[in-house]
Amino acid sequence: MRLGPISMYLIFGAENVQAIFRNSRSLSFEFMQLRIAEKVKGLPQSDKLKLGLDDSGSGSVPLNGQRGDERIWHNLHSIYLKNLTERSAVDFLTHKFAAEFAKQLDSLPWTQSTTGLYAFLQRYQFNASTITLVGPRILNYGKDAENKAETQLQFSGTFWEYDAAFMTLMQGMPRFMCRKGWAARDRTLEATKMWLREATEAAEATTASPNKDPEWDENFGHRLVRERNAELVRYGISFDGRAAMHMGLIWAINANAVPMTAYILFELARDPALLQRVRSEIRVGGVFPRGVGALGEVDIAALVKLPLLNSVYSECLRMRSSIPISRRLREDVVIDGYTLKKDSFLLAPSWLSHMNEEVWAPRSSVSPGSSAGKGVSNGKGNGHIPGAHEFWAERFLQLEASKTKIKLGDYCPYGGGTVICPGRFFAKHEILAAVAMVVTRFDLGFEGYTMLDGATPSERGPGMEKAECRGIVSLDRDMVVNMRRRDGF
Ligand code: HEM
Repeated sequence: MRLGPISMYLIFGAENVQAIFRNSRSLSFEFMQLRIAEKVKGLPQSDKLKLGLDDSGSGSVPLNGQRGDERIWHNLHSIYLKNLTERSAVDFLTHKFAAEFAKQLDSLPWTQSTTGLYAFLQRYQFNASTITLVGPRILNYGKDAENKAETQLQFSGTFWEYDAAFMTLMQGMPRFMCRKGWAARDRTLEATKMWLREATEAAEATTASPNKDPEWDENFGHRLVRERNAELVRYGISFDGRAAMHMGLIWAINANAVPMTAYILFELARDPALLQRVRSEIRVGGVFPRGVGALGEVDIAALVKLPLLNSVYSECLRMRSSIPISRRLREDVVIDGYTLKKDSFLLAPSWLSHMNEEVWAPRSSVSPGSSAGKGVSNGKGNGHIPGAHEFWAERFLQLEASKTKIKLGDYCPYGGGTVICPGRFFAKHEILAAVAMVVTRFDLGFEGYTMLDGATPSERGPGMEKAECRGIVSLDRDMVVNMRRRDGF
């Protein structure tokens, strides 16, 4: 595909996608990040130019002669690795999230409510993970008091309006053609600025504090955010630029993890037998050692060992993520015998790999009744291997039982190579913990589907028509459930 003087190559096939992940020295990820930061997050032009000066890559060996203090992308990447991938850091984040989500659930003013499940998570899971990341203060901002229902007065309401316009903003739609989306983006950015201003002032006022490097504090939230902010200040990024970058991180954590949790809960709520199996797996596995009364005290090691819940997670991630693996070529690269030219763009949509029938439902696949697939059921009792477009709770159990190896290029919900999502471990733990907490605390009675306005009924759940290449696919409708509080196991 030629876009004027610029070429864009579309890459398909596991081997070719893997070649992109291996070629991190020749392919720039940062260029695309800057484009998103400018278009969608309002990064000022002067900061974009400054960040664009560093083309030394994210890896530890610089690709050009740039000095360590000029290597902003590598320095940020190191901060992500330290705070998001080390075991103790991920455990801390997960415990903090679970404690905050438990507080949100404990504060609900009802014991029974008929509600949109996604709308529920958009408020309470969002609040818990945002507090975990940047502290509680930001939740007070971003409100738009004009003609708004109570739920929309929350920061979460503003954020999700902004999220709904993400792709439109990314495409560069002018303000007069997308007023609502631009207004929501402005409010979210304004809220982030108010938080950043207060966090900075409060942090400066407490410099005498004996513990200057806590993992979490009320002002900046997690150490990741504090360290990232300090690095951006050191590099000379303006206040407005830093706010835009922080808003990007708030988006990265919520815009993927919250819909993913919803997709999993939808599958469980519409299939009471599956829900029951997952619930009893959580109970028998000892995920909440102190019972329903202390859901915040989750045993992470027990959680990540639950076979069925983990298989449902991987299957939903396969079906509901549509990742734009995008890079810019720093030099000519040969892939599959073709020479791809320097300065062109690459786009490898994960969706095609995730839906490849030959990989996910091969004809030679072990049938659920055979010895290799022992104990693995397709839920229909007929030995049929569900196709790649069908949800199958046990698909990943079957793959494991039949010792089938899936290549990274066939399954890449978190991208790959040097810049593979550093938040993937925490994302998984947060999603599993949120699902376990909701199904343990509530009975979920399936009532039907509705469009996102909550008022227009829909005959079916969210499909993949809007499978925009942006991460976890946005939900275009919600599931209405009757949530009733369960006490005791
Ligand atoms: C289901 C949830 C998530 C999905 C599907 C997801 C997916 C991705 C993908 C596909 C990339 C780009 C990788 C590439 O192009 O090869 C990425 C980057 C990134 N993600 Fe995630 N992500 C999720 C959750 C999170 C969370 C919870 C955090 C933070 C706590 C996070 C932080 C980041 C950051 C900071 C980057 C940029 C990495 C860099 O610049 O080196 N993500 N994510």
